[in-house]
Amino acid sequence: MTRPLSIGVAGLGTVGAGVLKLLSDNAALIAARAGRPIIVTAVAARDRARDRGVPLEGLRWHTDAVMLAHDPDVDVVVELVGGSNGPAKALVEAALAAGKPVVTANKALMAVHGAVLAKQAEAAGVTLAFEAAVAGGIPAIKGLREGLAANRILRVVGILNGTCNYILTCMRDQGREFADVLAEAQALGYAEADPSFDIDGVDAAHKLAILAALAFGRPVDFDALYVEGIRNITALDIKLAEELGYRIKLLGIAAAVEGGISTRVHPCMVPVSHPIAVVDGVYNAVVAEGDFAGRVVLEGRGAGAGPTASAVVADLIDIARGRSTPVWGAGTADLARIPNVPMEQHRGAYYLRLMVLDRPGVLADVTGVLRDHAISLESMIQRGRAPGEAVPIVLTTHECQEAAMRAALTRIAALASVLEPPAMIRIETL
Ligand SMILES: NC(=O)c1ccc[n+]([C@@H]2O[C@H](COP(=O)([O-])OP(=O)(O)OC[C@H]3O[C@@H](n4cnc5c(N)ncnc54)[C@H](OP(=O)(O)O)[C@@H]3O)[C@@H](O)[C@H]2O)c1
Repeated sequence: MTRPLSIGVAGLGTVGAGVLKLLSDNAALIAARAGRPIIVTAVAARDRARDRGVPLEGLRWHTDAVMLAHDPDVDVVVELVGGSNGPAKALVEAALAAGKPVVTANKALMAVHGAVLAKQAEAAGVTLAFEAAVAGGIPAIKGLREGLAANRILRVVGILNGTCNYILTCMRDQGREFADVLAEAQALGYAEADPSFDIDGVDAAHKLAILAALAFGRPVDFDALYVEGIRNITALDIKLAEELGYRIKLLGIAAAVEGGISTRVHPCMVPVSHPIAVVDGVYNAVVAEGDFAGRVVLEGRGAGAGPTASAVVADLIDIARGRSTPVWGAGTADLARIPNVPMEQHRGAYYLRLMVLDRPGVLADVTGVLRDHAISLESMIQRGRAPGEAVPIVLTTHECQEAAMRAALTRIAALASVLEPPAMIRIETL
């Protein structure tokens, strides 16, 4: 067997400790698959006294993560600190500048700075690998970039945030409201103390930006995404969706559409018959549609020490074997400048729920506004009668343009008989 591959691991939290454990527990099979042992020689974290649950004896300890890039006993730098800037970015830049391959699980870094970092890796002639950055243990990046490399990808759809999927699943199964389930998820450690990155869709958007770049062979562009989270989803909408034959999921969707690529993260109603509708709890899924392969569905654990370490070590085995792929699937000079189609131009069907005063003429007012904006109705449900009181009206529309829908909603919200801001959820037939 040839010389071991020596790695330096920055960050010894959930993922970092998981990587050390996996490299130790499966050392023999990893060495066989990598063609040589993969050994940790140095680590970096802040608190030296903390018990990480893994032995650290004999490893060089750096309090400044960037020092791993300059450690002569480190062949490959593994960045598991997190954050799009700060020490993570400084370390990755320093490692690439030093000509060392990098493995990272950092979706924020790759989504925001991935285009520049890819150029830097290419110029240095070293690998920058990030399988763990999207959907944890699911080999979504290899699946798209290598497995489906011969296909023109038409669309990628993903459940990319386990916290949101868990919350929506609990809301559906237990008929509970968002705030209540979120508080419980925080108490159980499934949601962060500051949950905004997850529930406002930012984390899913980081991952979708990465998938979109790989699927469509264009530079990663996080700012181009439309992003909406799940804060406004109610138990009532989830129940009404079920009655209409849909499930509500927070999806990331990147699709080839007229005029370019549309990239968006928002709650969607998906038909219960679609494979993504039954991906529940903390599970993630990525569905890719290739022109020759057809639909490919990947499902698995999107986070946690084991699944994420599995993806990190898969990248390390590639590096040990000398298997290398351009960061974004093609060289940076060969990436296409495909325009992003703004959300206002999105075309789709919509679910609307209005809380209205039960009195004559209300429906005519609402449908009149929709007619003015050339939006045609597919169905309409009004439940119960409570003259003079609030009742829900549920409308679903045929395909129309987002800009028209937004203009109509502004007018509907201003009607005297409409008592709450309307709930609007996009219907995806997929
Ligand atoms: N957790 C998951 O399930 C998961 C899944 C997929 C991807 N990821 C990504 O993996 C990365 C790590 O996530 P995690 O959950 O393992 O995070 P974490 O548990 O918060 O661990 C972060 C680690 O980074 C260390 N650190 C922070 N600032 C540092 C600095 N200035 N210098 C040196 N070390 C520093 C911390 O040191 P101390 O321990 O001493 O404080 C800690 O060990 C992130 O990019 C995350 O997005 C995580």
